[in-house]
Amino acid sequence: EEPLVQNDQLEAINSDRSKRSTSSNGKFTKYLLLSLLVAAFGSAFQFGWSTAIFNTPSKVIEEFYRNVYKERNGEEMSDDLFNTYWSVTNGLLPFGGIFGGISSGFLGDYAGRKNGLLIVNIFVLISTVLNVISKFVKSYETIMVSRFFTGVYCGLFSGILPLYLSECPPKNLRGTVGTMNQLSIVFGILVANVLGLPELLGTEKLWPVLVAFSFIPALTHIFLLFFPESPKYLFMKRNDKLGAELALKKFRNGNELLVNEELDELEQEKEKLSLEPQVKWGDFLSKENLRRPLVVALVIQISQQFSGINAVIFYSTKIFENAGLTGSWPIYGTIIIGIVQILMTFVCMAIVDRAGRRILLLTGMIGMSVFSFILAFTRIWGEPGSWLNYMTVVAAIFYIVFFSIGPGAIPWLITSELFGSDSRGKATSLAVFINWFSNFIVTVSFPFIESAIGSYSFIVFGVLLIFFSVFMLLFVPETKNKTIEEIVDMFKRKTIFFPNSN
Ligand code: GLC
Repeated sequence: EEPLVQNDQLEAINSDRSKRSTSSNGKFTKYLLLSLLVAAFGSAFQFGWSTAIFNTPSKVIEEFYRNVYKERNGEEMSDDLFNTYWSVTNGLLPFGGIFGGISSGFLGDYAGRKNGLLIVNIFVLISTVLNVISKFVKSYETIMVSRFFTGVYCGLFSGILPLYLSECPPKNLRGTVGTMNQLSIVFGILVANVLGLPELLGTEKLWPVLVAFSFIPALTHIFLLFFPESPKYLFMKRNDKLGAELALKKFRNGNELLVNEELDELEQEKEKLSLEPQVKWGDFLSKENLRRPLVVALVIQISQQFSGINAVIFYSTKIFENAGLTGSWPIYGTIIIGIVQILMTFVCMAIVDRAGRRILLLTGMIGMSVFSFILAFTRIWGEPGSWLNYMTVVAAIFYIVFFSIGPGAIPWLITSELFGSDSRGKATSLAVFINWFSNFIVTVSFPFIESAIGSYSFIVFGVLLIFFSVFMLLFVPETKNKTIEEIVDMFKRKTIFFPNSN
């Protein structure tokens, strides 16, 4: 294969870079933090909130389905029929996510990261209106269609937000900032689980109010209009150097040194890309320097979902009930899981730029694997009322601890780090598509797996996690503190493995 850039050119660029180091000391400015928070609340929080909204009130929604059916048909809905309708309702969300995911890169590239996020709110409006009116028009079909659109916007948000998050901060903060995606998702999940309690809005009367809350993040998103577009997007995709400079000045609080340095870096990336032909879809298959990071990105996404995380997040109440917990304890268990997830995602956020992505992913996957097996065995061996029932809860908590330390947040941020501006949008689409596709498979099949092999189901996840850990060990490079350009260069080298973490 022809080298894409001449070696002497590469060396010149690299030695030039080693003279400069200021951008490794970039800091959070108020302006940067505020824009990221507004962007994340409207998108990732919305994503977590919307996906979890029927978690705690699932019984109430079940009653609603049964009542509507009875009113229409004059007879009770059978359990089988209800289960089918409920699986369809749950499956339609990740199914919509597949469509949203695959389109996310286009929308982000075409409309921009900021405007892209804003446009997605059209789907939030459609979905929320359908959801809210369901009770009044006495239809579960509107809920189902609403879930599909919820998936579409969650898929779109989950592609576009990470692009914005990776492109606005200085590179030494890229990991911390990228973690804000997952942190906002898990906040959304917890708030939905709490507000959906029967003591709050999870009642027959109030659930339409609960689902109407999706309007709030959508409305707050409007403030994004007052914040800048991603400077990198402006520079690389729009050729708008002035716009990029203004955006950077705002984000870096007028620090000329940092701004010029980052503009320089952008200029160099652009120069380099101009020497290369435009990336086409087929290049992801035919060009090794794109195929390799793509395989890494896709396997990381697949492993996040096939770790079984959503089986724990969305069926935890059931898992705890089956483990013998009684009264409100299964629901409390779910809420404890939510809190632990937030705390540990904070830990990930605090250390990801120092510890690195690779080590956190690896530790997380290995730990999850161990606790999947423990979770399975406590369920298999635990007689009702025995101490092993409580161990199930403990195992579930540790499983979440390890998920949150790396495999939760890192897949969302690493994809945008593995590709240059020429291919980032397309690669994001593919990665997010695979994430939602895997999510769909797990969500739809888990209830069947549970009824077929019951407590053994987590052994399947445990075994898969062993394979994923080995893959991480062999093929995932460390990306902390590197410019995207340096990361892209790593994949051009002829090494197969990435054993060192520097
Ligand atoms: C990640 C996953 C998502 C899951 C969530 C749970 O964001 O992508 O599917 O629901 O974590 O915290």
